[in-house]
Amino acid sequence: MALHKTLYIGPFIHCKTLNDLDICPNGLIGVDEDGKISHVSRDAKEGLLPAQGGWEHAKIVRTEQHGFFFPGFIDTHIHASQYPNAGVFGNSTLLDWLNTYTFPLESSFKDLERASRIYNRVVARTLSHGTTTAAYYATVHVPATNLLADICKSRGQRAFVGRVCMDRLSPDYYQDESTESAVRDTQACIDHIKHIDPEFNLITPIITPRFAPSCTDETLAALGKLHHATGLPCQTHISENLQEISLVKSLFPTSDSYAHVYDTAGLLTPKTILAHAVHLTPAERHLIKTRDAKISHCPASNTAITSGRAKVRTMLDEGLTVGLGTDVSGGYTSSMLTETREAIFVSRHVAMDEGDEAKLSVEEALYLATRGGAKVVGLEGRIGGFEVGMEWDAQMVRLGAVGGAEEALDERAGLVEVFGEETWEEKVAKWVYTGDDRNTVAVWVKGRLVHSREGFKG
Ligand code: GUN
Ligand code: FE
Repeated sequence: MALHKTLYIGPFIHCKTLNDLDICPNGLIGVDEDGKISHVSRDAKEGLLPAQGGWEHAKIVRTEQHGFFFPGFIDTHIHASQYPNAGVFGNSTLLDWLNTYTFPLESSFKDLERASRIYNRVVARTLSHGTTTAAYYATVHVPATNLLADICKSRGQRAFVGRVCMDRLSPDYYQDESTESAVRDTQACIDHIKHIDPEFNLITPIITPRFAPSCTDETLAALGKLHHATGLPCQTHISENLQEISLVKSLFPTSDSYAHVYDTAGLLTPKTILAHAVHLTPAERHLIKTRDAKISHCPASNTAITSGRAKVRTMLDEGLTVGLGTDVSGGYTSSMLTETREAIFVSRHVAMDEGDEAKLSVEEALYLATRGGAKVVGLEGRIGGFEVGMEWDAQMVRLGAVGGAEEALDERAGLVEVFGEETWEEKVAKWVYTGDDRNTVAVWVKGRLVHSREGFKG
């Protein structure tokens, strides 16, 4: 789609490294017709118009008072098909949660109309939360998985779309018939995405063995082969829950560890996203680091279905690459802003056992939600920050300006109330701790406006 050259004028904030939150109060970012950042100025007055290239006719988009531009969030692990169950998990833990809530819901996606209603809703909702990229699990169904890819493409969300493979320890009404059918159906979804987005510019297929307990050795090995033959990314779950880990030990008696099961199958590579990683042993972390596989930390889910507290500081200190995932609907929220907050609070619980250095700061958690996530999904240097050459995957944030005490509450800006005396760091902290989707006024992917709220001008 041909876009306008656009100048985004106002404060911009992004994470340069884990600890370096770059705040530019008077910025200007020029985005070209292809949705790429071609100009970044830290002083809007001086740099207002780039000297060459027809910028005098560019469209201009400005922030509101106290507002700022921030990179779009990257949700590195979300089950699109489980969205209707967000918030519904009772007192279950992983294995009974799967049987009670999850498999019955996922099996209903053989009904394409139902799939359409739910998938349209989850893509619209995650965009409204500022999620510009999502790594989705769909279900076993080829038509519904292809539909999810179509919906992401038409709504403009960058997505990795995975057809779920599972050929054992699953209910009769919901599982793959054989290794051959799992591979054939995965290939059918890859072919569909190749057809709608040949270069995988926006939508990329992702090979998705559900997790070791629900895949036979043969299926894991076949998907490992497909992963190597196609060069496509892969995603799965690892070491989420203690009973699950015991089950893996009994199902794979010759394997040294859960991570080793994936390694044996050729599924532990730089293009692998491992969700949860709550109970990894030091040897498993070492193996994952050696293979350069990536970690999706899912704190809301790990608390909700009481899986445990992942040691994010340890993983970061050891050099593992970590991003955040909502894991809907093990996780109750589809909001990456809420997930960021959950990551901070879970780290405080780890700190209560292990010492203050386990605590994640606001800046660090935001890094995981943006630039860390970009590394996890293999898009480092393309998304997750504001630098020349990167793509404009961004959100405009608005905060509430507090006037007199008698003034009506600003419903548009929700709970984030700025009194005007805060530093930028404090405004960002208020957004992370008290904000929600009302604060995300507009969202762009590759320069295309994909969501906006009342009051947005542009
Ligand atoms: N392990 C296997 N399947 C699932 C799932 O759907 N969600 C979570 N959180 N863990 C899993
Ligand atoms: Fe999950």
